[in-house]
Amino acid sequence: MQAMWMTHRSMTADQSVKDQKLRPGTIKRIASYAIPYKSWLIAYLITVVIDALLVIATPLLIKRLIDDGVVPGNSSLVTWLALSVAVIALLDAIFNMIGRWYSARIGEGLIFDLRTQVFSHVQRQSIAFFTRTQTGALISRINQDVIGAQQAFTATLSGVISNVLSLILVLITMLFLSWQITVISLILLPLFLAPTKWVGKKLQRLTKDSFNLNAEMSSLMTERFNVSGALLVKLYGNEDLESQGFKERARKVAGIGILIALLNRSFFIALTSIAAIATAIAYGVGGHLAINQSITLGTLLAITTLLVRLYGPLTALSNVRVDVMTALVSFERVFEVLDLKPMVAEPETPSSLPQGALSIEFDHVGFRYPTADEISLASLESAARSDLVESGQVLRDISFMITAGSMTAVVGPSGAGKTTISSLIPRLYDVTEGSIKIGGVDLRNISLQELRDCIGIVPQDPHLFHETIAANLRYAKSDATEEELRAACDAAQILSLVDSLPQGFDTVVGERGHRLSGGEKQRLAIARVLLKRPQIVILDEATAHLDSENERLVHRALTAALTGRTSLVIAHRLSTVKAADQIIVLAEGKVVEKGNHDELLKEKGLYFELVSKQRFE
Ligand SMILES: Nc1ncnc2c1ncn2[C@@H]1O[C@H](COP(=O)(O)OP(=O)(O)OP(=O)(O)O)[C@@H](O)[C@H]1O
Ligand SMILES: [Mg+2]
Repeated sequence: MQAMWMTHRSMTADQSVKDQKLRPGTIKRIASYAIPYKSWLIAYLITVVIDALLVIATPLLIKRLIDDGVVPGNSSLVTWLALSVAVIALLDAIFNMIGRWYSARIGEGLIFDLRTQVFSHVQRQSIAFFTRTQTGALISRINQDVIGAQQAFTATLSGVISNVLSLILVLITMLFLSWQITVISLILLPLFLAPTKWVGKKLQRLTKDSFNLNAEMSSLMTERFNVSGALLVKLYGNEDLESQGFKERARKVAGIGILIALLNRSFFIALTSIAAIATAIAYGVGGHLAINQSITLGTLLAITTLLVRLYGPLTALSNVRVDVMTALVSFERVFEVLDLKPMVAEPETPSSLPQGALSIEFDHVGFRYPTADEISLASLESAARSDLVESGQVLRDISFMITAGSMTAVVGPSGAGKTTISSLIPRLYDVTEGSIKIGGVDLRNISLQELRDCIGIVPQDPHLFHETIAANLRYAKSDATEEELRAACDAAQILSLVDSLPQGFDTVVGERGHRLSGGEKQRLAIARVLLKRPQIVILDEATAHLDSENERLVHRALTAALTGRTSLVIAHRLSTVKAADQIIVLAEGKVVEKGNHDELLKEKGLYFELVSKQRFE
């Protein structure tokens, strides 16, 4: 049965992998993953060998039972041998269980190792990597490859070994019992294998189609069933139209499902009927040989029993190259992910930052976003977004200095590069020209941990995890006490809102939880930064218009967050800009004006224009 299943699996696998070239060293590297499981692997192989030996033991015992027991009329031998057959059946079951236990432990252990390794490695990739790959596709690809890799160790490895072993043992025993019957019963084999190939190709295509259709169906569902999608459907009253579209896809899936079921069944029926015909031939030819006394009755029975055990392994092995290669290629793809070097690299010998408030200095900084091929990964290309276009030069020759403890506001039209500037300071990307220093140290010489510890960011649209308010706040400081949480929320002007919620700090927020307004979310994000107590604060003010009450609250929260810290604020509000020690006016990636509010007003340039229109985006 395992052999049958294995054959079926190889038939649905992609045949083209057979021709793929492996990189040198892959096999060696795979073997290194097996080392921790060496003793389990050996134990497992022992159960496989015992299992294969037990398979041929039964027919041989039956032969003795007939020839030495039944024919001469030795009833005690008949009893003993019958009992032995029963015991062997039990032993076989036990060893099968033990084998399965070992293979499951090896397989799951391997999945665990690979998964945890890939997870922590992918986390360390630069943000550019995540912009390039679609998260869903990335996750499913990695999962699929990790599971594929695991199958090399369990299903494939064991399948190949146990099939080859039982095939050899069965064939030798059969030839030894009667070579004539063996040869004649093998004649039918090509008859079986030819249509198997055809069915396999067809099944493989259908399986692929059904995967694609299923993926289409689930992406349609995720799009329509998330809050904003569902809202759109409702507002336009398009429920019937959507149901119709879904019905069409579901119908196609059903159609393919029927075809796959039919082909699968026909494969199993073919296997069993060919084996049955071969058995009939063996009985026919063997019966005549037994009448002529060339073989004994026991031999005839033994050989026909063995025959049934020959076809399964044979067909399984006919497709073994595809199986092994599929597994190896999966390993290789996982290795490719593991070998990907993060674009933002840790310094080899990190310098430490000075104590206290830190200055920020941009020195002739130029920047363009990484192009597709700088961050792409061949095997993840299908999961990559092909619609990502090159950005061109986003920042040009930017120089400015923010002295320690002062506040600088950046203003400029939409798309000028303000958010880009704010993401260069925590090194989400590396500058392409010039350098950025904080506390006099080049960012690229500071360890990433230390750098990110000293910077707190409140983004334009802050993200909250689907967790309680307390858990979201503690993301900044895991051991924060209740008092600390309250103090931070109080300073960020959000405490009264939290207290008004029925579950207070235990209210679940985020995508599917209690929905906070834009201003409330930013204040909560400010509270999170306050808990972190960083030396540098970067704030991308929400562009969404706030009512004057909300604006007043955010402004007060800001004042609390910024006092005594070096800060860079991307400002959209006059009140924030006026409070700044220095204002940088940005247009098309260049600094066009620099100074404080009064100075810039006198210049009557872009800033003056923005102020008169009250627009700072
Ligand atoms: N990940 C990215 N890849 C490629 N180009 C990008 C990326 N992010 C932003 N850009 C481009 O860089 C330029 C500057 O974008 P940025 O987000 O810094 O503007 P902004 O000044 O913050 O605008 P806004 O006021 O609308 O927030 C834009 O032309 C934008 O299209
Ligand atoms: Mg922006």
